[in-house]
Amino acid sequence: MPDSLLNGAYRFSVAPMMDYTDRHFRVLMRQITRRSLLYTEMVVAHALVHGHVDRLLAFDPSEHPVALQLGGADPELLARAARLGTEYGYDEINLNVGCPSEKVQKGRFGACLMAEPEQVARCISAMGAASPLPVTVKHRIGIDERDSYAELLAFVDTVAAAGAQRFSVHARKAWLEGLDPKQNRTIPPLRYELVHQLKQERPQLTIELNGGLLDLSSCEDQLQHVDGVMVGRAAYDHPLRWATVDRDLFADSSQPIASASTVVRGLIPYAERWVSGGGRLWAIARHLVQVVEGVSGARHWRRDLGVAAGARDAGPEVFARAAQQLEERGL
Ligand SMILES: Cc1cc2nc3c(=O)[nH]c(=O)nc-3n(C[C@H](O)[C@H](O)[C@H](O)COP(=O)(O)O)c2cc1C
Repeated sequence: MPDSLLNGAYRFSVAPMMDYTDRHFRVLMRQITRRSLLYTEMVVAHALVHGHVDRLLAFDPSEHPVALQLGGADPELLARAARLGTEYGYDEINLNVGCPSEKVQKGRFGACLMAEPEQVARCISAMGAASPLPVTVKHRIGIDERDSYAELLAFVDTVAAAGAQRFSVHARKAWLEGLDPKQNRTIPPLRYELVHQLKQERPQLTIELNGGLLDLSSCEDQLQHVDGVMVGRAAYDHPLRWATVDRDLFADSSQPIASASTVVRGLIPYAERWVSGGGRLWAIARHLVQVVEGVSGARHWRRDLGVAAGARDAGPEVFARAAQQLEERGL
């Protein structure tokens, strides 16, 4: 599938985040933006090929367009994983070349692969041969001492030649030793100018900028320089901050602007499907904590929701009650 069939969704995307961007959070974000691209958490190719495929890959149809992010460094395993992702109906397959965690380094994938562009190229090429979907890469601007613009450009050129259709660039380097993943998301400085230069010098490539984007106006600023913006923590911590993304970044006003109550109410049909399939309501409710913020009574509302949704037999009526409480307050 050519990238254009994603309908330009990468103009704004919600970043892959382990333990956060699970299927439930993605359905939540869909109540807020219909147009943007949502990423899964990283799924390790090895675990997928040898593990419980349905648990790792199943998602709700309402999540489209949704990109499956894979972790790995073995072209053959990644090709098999890409094939599975394609069968499951994902819209894009993305390779993680940005995670610096110790566990991932032990597997010789994630950010450490930035030192091995040829290996990444082999992976992308194998994934592309196995799947008709767009195959994309998420990476850093560099690792350790390999942080010059020339090295970044050489990495991108090598991987682009193998068929990568988009580059999502976390605009800070990673230190593989000495910093943990959390520190690697804050301590190395953001260098947006390198990503801008990349787009300037390779205008034919689709370049998405990630890192430190906190609001819509900073995204609009960046979109003057690159093709897309990707937001991670600020999307999870403040989902409703992005309520006007469709209108303002995609020029699409076909849906009403979401509010806290429409988000919670919008989740009810999904919660019904999830609970009737044997799932716990809490798996969805845990993501709702940040939907009400900055108003008096928010703590009460969260606590009541937490208690009610935490019960073993909690069902979607809990969300109906929670939505009603918000509606009564005009939220
Ligand atoms: C809790 C958490 C988990 C993350 N997991 C992943 C992951 O699975 N794959 C990945 O490529 N990046 C992961 N990241 C990095 C984000 O995708 C993103 O690149 C980073 O947070 C910078 O963007 P931000 O400043 O908008 O949050 C994670 C970040 C956080 C905070």
